[in-house]
Amino acid sequence: MDTPYQKFTQGLKNKGEWRELQPYSPSASGQIRRDMEDFINFSSNDYLNLSQSREMRMRAISFAQQFGCGSTASRLVTGNLTAFEEIEHKLANAIGKPSTLIFSSGYQTNSSVLPALMDRHVLGLDVVVFADRLNHNSLVTGVKLAGAELRRYRHLDLNHLEDLLKKSMMRKISRFIVSETLFGMDGDRANVPGLIALAKKYNAFLYLDDAHAVGVLGQNGWGLTAQYADQIDCIMGTFGKAFGSSGAYVACSHVLREYLINRCPGFMFSTGLSPLIWGTIDAAIDMIPGLSVSRSKLLANADYFRSAIRPLQLETMHSDAHITPLIVGEAKDAMQLQKSLEHQGILCMAIRPPTVPQGTSRLRISMTAAHSTHHVDQLIQALFRWCKHKPDISNIAA
Ligand SMILES: Cc1ncc(COP(=O)(O)O)c(C=O)c1O
Repeated sequence: MDTPYQKFTQGLKNKGEWRELQPYSPSASGQIRRDMEDFINFSSNDYLNLSQSREMRMRAISFAQQFGCGSTASRLVTGNLTAFEEIEHKLANAIGKPSTLIFSSGYQTNSSVLPALMDRHVLGLDVVVFADRLNHNSLVTGVKLAGAELRRYRHLDLNHLEDLLKKSMMRKISRFIVSETLFGMDGDRANVPGLIALAKKYNAFLYLDDAHAVGVLGQNGWGLTAQYADQIDCIMGTFGKAFGSSGAYVACSHVLREYLINRCPGFMFSTGLSPLIWGTIDAAIDMIPGLSVSRSKLLANADYFRSAIRPLQLETMHSDAHITPLIVGEAKDAMQLQKSLEHQGILCMAIRPPTVPQGTSRLRISMTAAHSTHHVDQLIQALFRWCKHKPDISNIAA
């Protein structure tokens, strides 16, 4: 029975696309431990270092003492414990939407909310989705599960998006525009006001995934959608990144929230998040507006890093925030760079297909508030050493 699967995984090994699990444990600030060895960690999405927050741990314990360890059922049965909707309300106020609905993960949110929103039986029309070509897999899966027609526009190219929207105007359909705000693997940004304007002009539903921006960017850290929340139909974000916890939310109108509670299988048929996690989310919502010093520090570190490596002429795309891709090209070359950095005490995992398109394998440098300038300097020096010894990789322009 295992043969076809074995053949497939062997194929991945041959292409340098094989993945395996490794056990890690947290170490000193900005570091991670594997096999008794400490590395400076540039692969974490814990942008504000909140996963180590004492306040969040204490709130988790307090929630566990009050409610127990599990929510024990779907929220629609008996799993909607008394604190949960108050937290959703507090989050809605912070984000600037009438309501929010919290799910167990961002993947579950995108892959089950999108099909529910795009239900042609509810809308009474066929659905066409206009999606950025580099959207996260959970968004792509959500659209696929919806069975909707997909039109992918060139990454961040609103002229291309408008061409596609214009062409669709001949048809009586429901239109959706779906995009990340800060792109997780590329570190570049969608033009949020531009997307809002196109959604209005072509009467499209706008769904924006703020997963990598919330906590770090925007007014008081409430993401790249914060300033425009009232003009976006549905904003999605996760608690697994800058919030330092897990779970995710959609922020939307009261009507949409009620609809999702009644029609979104990922909400209806899944046990609610553990009260411990709700406690951490509750604490993080309180803390995020006050973390502007951490936000400035990590963004300054990222700017410093990009300017310092400029002489190496590595391809960093249009990143200008806390995520910087170093495009290498082939998966095997990205693995080689990962290994070279590991030998120099730095952990930065290669990102390869299918996470990114073929030929764009990369290292994704993720800056966090736990990094000191010394950590960043070590990364810079390691890259200079690597470039000196490996001048033959095609994507390095030097
Ligand atoms: C843009 C984007 N959306 C959604 C998700 C999924 O979120 P979660 O990790 O909470 O499942 C991710 C995760 O990496 C992501 O990058």
